[in-house]
Amino acid sequence: MTRVFNFSAGPAALPEPVLRQAAAEMLDWHGSGMSVMEMSHRGKEFIAIAAEAEALLRELMAIPPQYKVLFMQGGAIAENAIVPMNMLRGHAGADYIDTGEWSKKSIKEAKKYGAVNVAASAADSGYTTIPPRASWKLDPAAAYVHICSNETIGGVEYPAPPDVGAVPLVADMSSSILSRPVEVTKYGLIYGGAQKNIGPAGLTIVIVREDLIGGALPCTPSAFDYKVVADNESMYNTPPTYAIYIAGLVFQWLKAQGGLPAIEAHNRRKAALLYDYLDTTAFYRAPVAKSCRSLMNVPFKLEDESLDAAFLKGAEARGMVQLKGHRSVGGMRASLYNAMPLEGVQALVAYMKEFESQHG
Ligand SMILES: Cc1ncc(COP(=O)(O)O)c(C=O)c1O
Repeated sequence: MTRVFNFSAGPAALPEPVLRQAAAEMLDWHGSGMSVMEMSHRGKEFIAIAAEAEALLRELMAIPPQYKVLFMQGGAIAENAIVPMNMLRGHAGADYIDTGEWSKKSIKEAKKYGAVNVAASAADSGYTTIPPRASWKLDPAAAYVHICSNETIGGVEYPAPPDVGAVPLVADMSSSILSRPVEVTKYGLIYGGAQKNIGPAGLTIVIVREDLIGGALPCTPSAFDYKVVADNESMYNTPPTYAIYIAGLVFQWLKAQGGLPAIEAHNRRKAALLYDYLDTTAFYRAPVAKSCRSLMNVPFKLEDESLDAAFLKGAEARGMVQLKGHRSVGGMRASLYNAMPLEGVQALVAYMKEFESQHG
């Protein structure tokens, strides 16, 4: 068996020990005689699995008790609708910060449910920066301020949560959750799809301050009403049981790595290796401003785009896959989620140097 270095933006690489454990437990979970996939979500075995996953997530992210952790479905794209349905709470609208493709999708969807004030946009920079906080035109009456913590496509990441005063901050953290410590109390709500740093696609994590739930629009489907989901401990409908189980294994793995401070140090080492090289060569170019470069998704371009196909072919021949940039921006993108080992980035940089020496 040969495993590749998988630079996919998501679904993405998972830690190998997690996959091995899941394989070993596939037919018989802890003497139950069943696969986790075959368990009732109301049975004692699965209830224990879900409770442990939540407890580990709370421990890793230091989630205070006044926040609910919800295991939902539909991914971040569904949450783009579910958030305004639940969070407008009688307000006319909400503020959104536009930092790229994923912010734009959130904005478009929210407009169906309320007034959207785009309080700042990085469009003028070609989405290579985050607009300075002082330039944001926030509405003090807004229900919430929405940001995308890490733009998976553009590779722009907030280095720290912005201060938005008393209005709740809502963050799409799909591609940066668990990559570094987060001060949860700075947020009213955090959401993200699981398929980057958490586990398989199909699970959405929502972390929401308790006092913000209970005011959903009357049209909100029950399965998407945070109060209904919270009151039923994420079991109002059948939750994505296997994805929750794998998420729990990933959380155990993360804890064994030393938790989020240790994984952040690891992620910084990996990202620095690639960015430092990109900054020393004219053959490749990293478009994002240094102050807001993503630790997780590193977009880069070859100056001579006619070499793109050859670059990708050579990478694949060396066991490095999914380096093609998103179709909306072109070029390359290396996603360096938690499960990407340092050796993967070392191999990539070595190959980039080799390619440059042949074609530069
Ligand atoms: C930041 C961000 N938001 C939203 C999404 C959409 O997630 P999903 O397809 O799981 O709904 C993605 C997926 O890549 C993402 O990276």
